[in-house]
Amino acid sequence: MLSSVWIVLSCHASRPWPYIITLFQTLTKSTPFQSSLSLSSFSYSHFLCVFFFFGTFFMALSKISTSHTPSQTLKPNFYSKPCVPLQCYDARRSGVSFEQHRKLRISCSVAPNQVQAPVAPAVPSDTTSNRDCYGVFCTTYDLKADEKTKSWKSLIKIAVSGAAGMISNHLLFKLASGEVFGPDQPIALQLLGSERSLQALEGVAMELEDSLYPLLREVSIGINPYEVFQDCEWALLIGAKPRGPGMERAGLLDINGQIFAEQGKALNAVASRNVKVIVVGNPCNTNALICLKNAPNIPAKNFHALTRLDENRAKCQLALKAGVFYDKVSNMTIWGNHSTTQVPDFLNAKINGIPVKEVIKDTKWLETEFTERVQKRGGVLIQKWGRSSAASTAVSIVDAIRSLVTPTPEGDWFSTGVYTNGNPYGIAEDIVFSMPCRSKGDGDYELAKDVIIDDFLRERIKKSEAELLAEKRCVAHLTGEGNAFCDLPEDTMLPGEQ
Ligand code: LMR
Repeated sequence: MLSSVWIVLSCHASRPWPYIITLFQTLTKSTPFQSSLSLSSFSYSHFLCVFFFFGTFFMALSKISTSHTPSQTLKPNFYSKPCVPLQCYDARRSGVSFEQHRKLRISCSVAPNQVQAPVAPAVPSDTTSNRDCYGVFCTTYDLKADEKTKSWKSLIKIAVSGAAGMISNHLLFKLASGEVFGPDQPIALQLLGSERSLQALEGVAMELEDSLYPLLREVSIGINPYEVFQDCEWALLIGAKPRGPGMERAGLLDINGQIFAEQGKALNAVASRNVKVIVVGNPCNTNALICLKNAPNIPAKNFHALTRLDENRAKCQLALKAGVFYDKVSNMTIWGNHSTTQVPDFLNAKINGIPVKEVIKDTKWLETEFTERVQKRGGVLIQKWGRSSAASTAVSIVDAIRSLVTPTPEGDWFSTGVYTNGNPYGIAEDIVFSMPCRSKGDGDYELAKDVIIDDFLRERIKKSEAELLAEKRCVAHLTGEGNAFCDLPEDTMLPGEQ
């Protein structure tokens, strides 16, 4: 009996060798305990040991096989923190078990020098849309049957991520009111939230219901991008994690990069083939790059990083200095990254059609104070508000969309972060860089060619370019370009970080 207890204990220790030796000794009756073992106690202990031996053996096997996955072999660092399932199916609403719905788990990222599988947009097996329509929006209407609405354009689907957040709370009501797409453009809003924000998302949908917007014909909510992005023609990607205390910028790039990699895959799988994507979540340029790299079936040209807020801020500062109303400022380019390296271009900007430098003679102010004010405006605002800009960001998203769906006024241009793929300014290819663009109003754009670049401007543009190239190296594991290597410049910051 004693030996049987010892055998069981040695099995429990999850180390097979003591057990194997003991089993062997028991079977050959040459145990050091010398066998007072009765037949029945032998059979009992034999059974238990066989049970524990195989249990131990299979546990060891499963450990060995898991430890071969690359992410487990990492040295612990901020890259190898346990992953959080960022998007999961809405189990509560679809009636299928929550665990079943965890198919879209975002896999752990990898450390520098660890190769992750190349980007291969994986399409989950069940991508059919079962996001939920909300309340009054579940009713269907025949717009052609109604005298008032029969001349309207056909409905467009607009997906918004981070839909329960502050920016969206301003934006959604502008979209629904018709001020963005026009008074004859009915819209459907497809709202993406997270598990945590689902209640709040329902609150947003309730407020949209109660607003009785004539143009808002459909609202659906969900937490699975493969459902929410179904057939969308616009994707406004606002949701991202803010940089928490003590978080490295590289860590932020990695965490948010994973969100945008997943959303890129979802867009690739289910969105309209000509969807226009505006990335707002920071760091928006590199998030946009990650997103487009994960959506190879959507033209890279369709992806934008929002730098329109910076353009608006720059216009405001120039107007203030010149003592004019801000609608007199035109041709305002923001070059580069939506960060403190961004370059507000006072060389090409105009006030009342006259070059800014001829109106504002204080070159030192332009080169230092003006530039810094624009670069750091987001941070100053956070200090005042205690949170990031929301209303002005929403307005700038509206401006960015309107710039693409209405023809650019003659001679003017607008700024947007776009994929560099053959640009006339000598900016490195294959990054998302803010540049001056014009549109015919068809949703597309062309780069403005009639710009001048002097040495001062070029030097600053190069700094922002270097920052974006460094960010790109840091997320190589998310763009399918192999080893991630983070050598971010030390002073690299979001506008809100000071
Ligand atoms: C802004 O420019 O206001 C934001 O991007 C700032 C931030 O870091 O959230």
